[in-house]
Amino acid sequence: PVRLVAISGSIRRASHCTAVLRSLHPLLPPTATLELFPLDEVPMYNADLDGDTPPAPVAALKAAIASADGLVICSPEYNYGIPGVLKNAIDWASRPGFASPLKGKPALVMTASPGTAGGVRAQAQIRDALAATLARSLVRQHIAIAGVAARIQDGRLTDAPTLEFIQAGLVDLLDEIRGLRAARQPQA
Ligand code: FNR
Repeated sequence: PVRLVAISGSIRRASHCTAVLRSLHPLLPPTATLELFPLDEVPMYNADLDGDTPPAPVAALKAAIASADGLVICSPEYNYGIPGVLKNAIDWASRPGFASPLKGKPALVMTASPGTAGGVRAQAQIRDALAATLARSLVRQHIAIAGVAARIQDGRLTDAPTLEFIQAGLVDLLDEIRGLRAARQPQA
């Protein structure tokens, strides 16, 4: 079995990004699970609160990432960049530096926007922030969903070409997880 954790960079109820993440289950093989971790309750990063017993939502976030085989992120772009909500969560999850639950974690990064650029500028920043944590963002064509509002119906992504493109990303993610598992097997 493969456990994936989904993280949306938007915490509003009608978020397009969360809708995209909620639409992925049918694209996964039956052996894989995908659970959404909402960032609503994660407080602002404060090193004074960081340590062995961080705030409960932070501990839950870090535990969810630690127990996951991989991450699926979908985020909007705010003012040409990464939303504070998502950056804040990455910052919490990144500690202790270079030895955090994010280290070595395969991650499929997607962005979505009602606009024409699909959030590519934010995507570059998300990938950069993940690189600082030693997470493994997949090297593949960027999944940047432009005009996302028109591709969603009743809270689900219904646009077939977009679903197909995302599915290829999920296949890459599962391949990466399988490869890492194989590499961890003791050599004969
Ligand atoms: C935006 N939006 C936006 N869109 C974009 O493509 N590039 C941008 O730089 C911005 N900047 C921006 C700043 C702020 C503060 C807000 C609130 C919004 C629009 C944004 O893509 C849109 O609101 C999305 O619907 C947000 O994603 P969710 O919440 O639907 O997932």
